[in-house]
This record gives sequence, C-alpha cells and structure tokens, in this order.
Amino acid sequence: MILRRLTTVTHTILRRTHTTELIEYKDHTPVLLEEAIKHLDPKDNEYYIDMTFGAGGHSRKILESSDCKLITLDRDPTAFAKARKLAVEYPNRVTPLLGRFSELPNLLKEKGIKQMSIAGMLFDFGCSSMQLDNGERGFSISKNGYLDMRMDAGRDPNQITAREVLATANEQELYKIFKIYGEEKKAAKIAQTIIQARYMIKNIETTEEYSMEGHQ
Ligand SMILES: C[S@@+](CC[C@H](N)C(=O)[O-])C[C@H]1O[C@@H](n2cnc3c(N)ncnc32)[C@H](O)[C@@H]1O
Repeated sequence: MILRRLTTVTHTILRRTHTTELIEYKDHTPVLLEEAIKHLDPKDNEYYIDMTFGAGGHSRKILESSDCKLITLDRDPTAFAKARKLAVEYPNRVTPLLGRFSELPNLLKEKGIKQMSIAGMLFDFGCSSMQLDNGERGFSISKNGYLDMRMDAGRDPNQITAREVLATANEQELYKIFKIYGEEKKAAKIAQTIIQARYMIKNIETTEEYSMEGHQ
C-alpha cells in the first residue's frame, strides 16, 4: 500500500488506483471542495465512500462529477436523514449508512458490499455546521443549550454527555481534557473554576453557564 500526502488541513482522500494501491492526498487550497473532488477523481460505475457525510456538500459534488456509486457514512442521525434524502434524489446511486468509522466493515457487509470494491474514500474531519449551529447539540457557546456534545446525538446509550463529564470528572481529569484535547492555555484555571462552581454554586449544565464560569 502506498500512502502519498498532498497538503491539507481537514480533507483526507484515500483513492485506490487501478492497481490495488491506496493513495492518500492532503490539500491546503482554499477551494477545498473542488480540490477534494479533483483528487478523488470519481469514475463512472466505481464505488466511493464519503466517510463524513455531514450536510452532504462533498457527496453531492461527487455524484455530479461522474456516474459513480456513492456510500455515505456519518455517526450523526441528522446527517443520515439528509443522506437518505440524497438517495431519493439520485436513485440507485447512493447507499446511506449510519455509524462510526469503526462500524463501517460490518455495515458494508450487511449491504453485501466487498471492501476491495471501493475505489476511493473522502474524509472531512470535524463538526458539521448542523452540529455547531444547533444550540441543543451543546457544541456552541454562541447558542445556549445543554452541554451535550455527543456526535451520535444519543444514538449510543453508553456515550456520556459533556454535562456529565463536567459533573463527575475531578480537577486533574478536567485539566487533561482541556489541555490535551482542547489545547487550551488556561486549562488549569478553567478546571479549577469548574470544580469551585460545582461545590459552591451548581453543576455547569449549559453552554452559557460554561462560557461564564469556564472563561472568567
Ligand atoms: C466537517 S463535517 C463533514 C461535512 C461534509 N463534508 C459536508 O460537505 O457537509 C464532519 C462529519 O463527520 C462526522 N463524524 C465525525 N466523527 C465521525 C466518526 N468517527 N464516524 C462517522 N462520522 C463521523 C460528524 O458527525 C460530521 O457530520
């Protein structure tokens, strides 16, 4: 397997050449949609996977750029619902899947799709604007909502919410979360403030409370 990197911040493309090599492209250009599709280079009748469907911007472009087949994956049920609509718009071309990356092999098996039949995969990591713009998802401090932050939106009953983490983690654990995952310079101060609020006032439950307490 050959992995080749171009330069990109958010997009990763894995494309199988006509031999069986996997090529990884990364790209920094501002026109990421155009560039991503250019490197994926979808061909008629081949199968591609949009691994992070989101609102489907990349998927739509893939479908428009050739008469290929497209499998879409996203762990978020809101994105899955959108993918199902796209499947109606493009009959017999789109297979929407709901799940995480790790669930893909089983999901493909259920649909009778062999892994080596995939010509290319597109990843666009991060949160979608559907997640960020909806206060109820708890991702955004500009829109008040309960601190949920589950990308699966509750699909996985074992996944705890950010609110539960803030209510139960100790100061050191909170520090690590902010420092390592958030790369937050004031990680120690924020962790300490959350613990103090928890004991002296109340648990922090909403994005608004977090923005007031966590970033004083
Ligand atoms: C930046 S958005 C993708 C936007 C999309 N390219 C578009 O054009 O609208 C990233 C998406 O990846 C999904 N995602 C993140 N981690 C995932 C995982 N482990 N498995 C499946 N989907 C994931 C998120 O739910 C989100 O919808």
